[in-house]
Amino acid sequence: MTNTIDIEHLTVSFRSKRRAALFRKSPRVKALDDISLHIKEGETFGLTGETGSGKSTLAKVLVGLYKPTSGTVRLLGKEIDFEDKNDIAYLRQNVGIVLQDPVRSLNPRLTVEEIVTEALIASKTFPKEKYKERIDHIARLVGVTKDLLPRYPRELSGGQRQRVSLARALVVPKKLLVLDEPTSALDVSIQAQVLNTLKKLKSELDMSFLFITHDINVIKYVSHRLGVLFYGKLVETGDVRDIAMAPKHPYTQKLISNVLTLGMPSVREVSITEHRPAPTGCRYRLVCKSAFGKCHDIPPALNLGSGHIVSCFLYEEGLTPLEELAPVKAVPERPSLAIPVPELATHQVPDSGPGAASAEGTRASPDPAP
Ligand SMILES: Nc1ncnc2c1ncn2[C@@H]1O[C@H](COP(=O)(O)OP(=O)(O)OP(=O)(O)O)[C@@H](O)[C@H]1O
Ligand code: SF4
Ligand SMILES: [Mg+2]
Repeated sequence: MTNTIDIEHLTVSFRSKRRAALFRKSPRVKALDDISLHIKEGETFGLTGETGSGKSTLAKVLVGLYKPTSGTVRLLGKEIDFEDKNDIAYLRQNVGIVLQDPVRSLNPRLTVEEIVTEALIASKTFPKEKYKERIDHIARLVGVTKDLLPRYPRELSGGQRQRVSLARALVVPKKLLVLDEPTSALDVSIQAQVLNTLKKLKSELDMSFLFITHDINVIKYVSHRLGVLFYGKLVETGDVRDIAMAPKHPYTQKLISNVLTLGMPSVREVSITEHRPAPTGCRYRLVCKSAFGKCHDIPPALNLGSGHIVSCFLYEEGLTPLEELAPVKAVPERPSLAIPVPELATHQVPDSGPGAASAEGTRASPDPAP
């Protein structure tokens, strides 16, 4: 199986405008710091992390809205030059995005049909006489019924708007769909419908997903592999069930333990880091109970087997974290996720198996955090 996306040593820094007034030269915020990950064809990669950890920054790089400060992004093996308009067009042709807020991301002056048609016109890949057929096909696939086509976004429910966002993202065939918290603005039953729709789409369409969410249960439901971000660093990646059952990085352990013991599936609700990240070395070391001398350096990405990658010195030393908790027996299912979506029940879709894990992770940066 080949990779849809290869990200190597990706760093994205921003100049902090707010603090620019206080400093002669404004400091840089590293939203992503030396991230490496790969998403295979047909795979759903889940990405989680607390607020501000860099999830949306990664999403925006993948559709050409942000440029990397350093590192490379390859789409279907082709390295993207973010200064080249043709490469950005190629990226946008092949990577779709669905944003968290379906209200603000849909043009209020256009009807649903016009919103979806606009995407077709912009792509220049479909002849005009095929528009109707294509829109009907995608609308049926994502559960946008015919009566919704002449309506304006304000006349739709939250779930319907999110389906329209999906239709717009998918009407031109894509290789990768980036979903940046696509269900967090929706109530639980609508969330379940949208997630079930995504699962069906996954089987129907030949594409990969990058699924960003704060909700561990959602990730477990939709993803094959999981990546955990902590202040711009990818601290752990691997098979989603391996990480859910036996997290290895002290941060992931605490994250998953809090989610389970406090019964809160959302990482957003779990306040773990009462301190700012360490400015040098391992970013988690000011909070980590297991920190030791070596942790003043940047931990390497260590492959513990089966593509389970952890950035932590403990595993280099054959140690286990002090915070290691009793093994998790099972991550509770969210019952509502099993709600069937009636309008999709008629589609015959082949099953798609989980993608195999691949080696990946963060690597030591030659230029530690600012
Ligand atoms: N355009 C920008 N200019 C300056 N700083 C930015 C910009 N975009 C993001 N950042 C900063 O980069 C960091 C990561 O932001 P990002 O939006 O990627 O986080 P996130 O993980 O998506 O958070 P959330 O869960 O709240 O959506 C934050 O410190 C944020 O303030
Ligand atoms: S590298 Fe050190 S500080 Fe960082 S998570 Fe591992 S033990 Fe803790
Ligand atoms: Mg975000």
